Amino acid sequence: MNCFVLVNKDNKIKDKYYKNLKLVEVLNVLDKKTKVEEKTYNAYLELKKFLEEKDIIIGIDTAYRDEEEQQETWNYFLEEKGEEYCHKYVAPVGYSEHHTGLAIDISLKKDGKFLIDNGDLFKYDDEFKKIHPYLKEFGFILRYPLGKENITGYNYEPWHIRYVGTVTANIIYENNLTLEEYLTKFGGVLVVNKEKGITSFDVVKEVSKTLGIKKIGHTGTLDPLAEGVLVLTIGTFTKLGEDLTSLDKEYIAEVEEGIITDTLDITGNIIDKNNNRVSELENLITSFKKTYLQEVPVYSAVKVNGKKLYEYARNNLEVELPKKEVTIKEIELLSSTDKTFKFKTLVSKGCYIRSLINDIGNALNTYATMTTLIRTKQGKVTLEDTYKLSEIRKNLHKTYQIDEVLELPTIIVDDETANKIRTGQKISNKYDIKDKVIFKDNKGQILGIYELQNNILAVWKNFV
Ligand code: DAL
Ligand code: ZN
Repeated sequence: MNCFVLVNKDNKIKDKYYKNLKLVEVLNVLDKKTKVEEKTYNAYLELKKFLEEKDIIIGIDTAYRDEEEQQETWNYFLEEKGEEYCHKYVAPVGYSEHHTGLAIDISLKKDGKFLIDNGDLFKYDDEFKKIHPYLKEFGFILRYPLGKENITGYNYEPWHIRYVGTVTANIIYENNLTLEEYLTKFGGVLVVNKEKGITSFDVVKEVSKTLGIKKIGHTGTLDPLAEGVLVLTIGTFTKLGEDLTSLDKEYIAEVEEGIITDTLDITGNIIDKNNNRVSELENLITSFKKTYLQEVPVYSAVKVNGKKLYEYARNNLEVELPKKEVTIKEIELLSSTDKTFKFKTLVSKGCYIRSLINDIGNALNTYATMTTLIRTKQGKVTLEDTYKLSEIRKNLHKTYQIDEVLELPTIIVDDETANKIRTGQKISNKYDIKDKVIFKDNKGQILGIYELQNNILAVWKNFV
């Protein structure tokens, strides 16, 4: 179950959604069998119990509806209320949130009888308004709120609640958002200012817990010693992991000369000492502005014959360290003493700063070991764009859209083109795109990245 699934007039439910859907069968207020997604049902039971204590009795009218039931619903309202009403209150088959099992139309008990007619329910809007502020505590949102009709595509429905989990429900409620706005605003890329002493995976775990989102990836590991820019991808944007990892990165590092450790940084065990700098530091550092074959450090997760290099190191096994071509695009000495120096560098994908420092040490005919490392930039994202974990915990962060982190042109398309993109169709290159382009719809939702292939634009990555 993906509690962020977006199903609306623009987004048809995908067949694959049903594969992981766990439904429970329950009786509705008319004693008819209906189904609800399991987690949603448990949350609903808690909500119901809570409201009972406040003398508000709710029941389920409908929850999960398969395509046949949605068609029956459409036909019923078409006959009773006409087509205009249907477009305002009923989703076409395949485009209903009820297909997700995460939506429930709740009914109110009044004078010993459950109300299910929309008109009757509207008469008790004041009672619904008492319920709405509590929904978030149980992981629900009011999916079609008043005043947001042009975003959700439907009129206000006080009875239609949707499970999204408590973390998201709170964010949506506090910021007066719809699910559409939440996904546009919060789905994308989060840039963390990683502190020293924790792993990149610790950051992912913490963010995942805080935001209530399981699917989070990091792009370009920072060792526990390192701090600074750590770019995380959220939800469907984890697809961009590779693209973000391969961006150039800028670092500021501090170095101690005269010692070498097994890990090539100060956290390792010292294995030798020698303090005998022979060359002039500034010129030598500048000479590293080049492309060269860099040996991967043994304390790294790079695999050789299916085994990670650090596993060889920990078990004292011999292994030939692989070499990778890296480019040091910029390098500048910032300060130095006779035993230490500090420099800033911009490097290509796959460059280990520990190894670069070791190589500089060798060229100086001494040893050089990294003592601090700050990643100051990844692509166009800088330290200024980052948020500390403590800020994320307080929900003070912003999630970036991919056009804010990738250096690609962005085009907002009309509804017709947006629909073509949603269904993965090729589109003509009337925009004169040379390579790749990010397409958004006119509500700001990212649709996908297209690339030019034989004079026509074709899907490269889709996000809807
Ligand atoms: N009433 C909502 C829009 C549905 O039919 O899914
Ligand atoms: Zn509904």
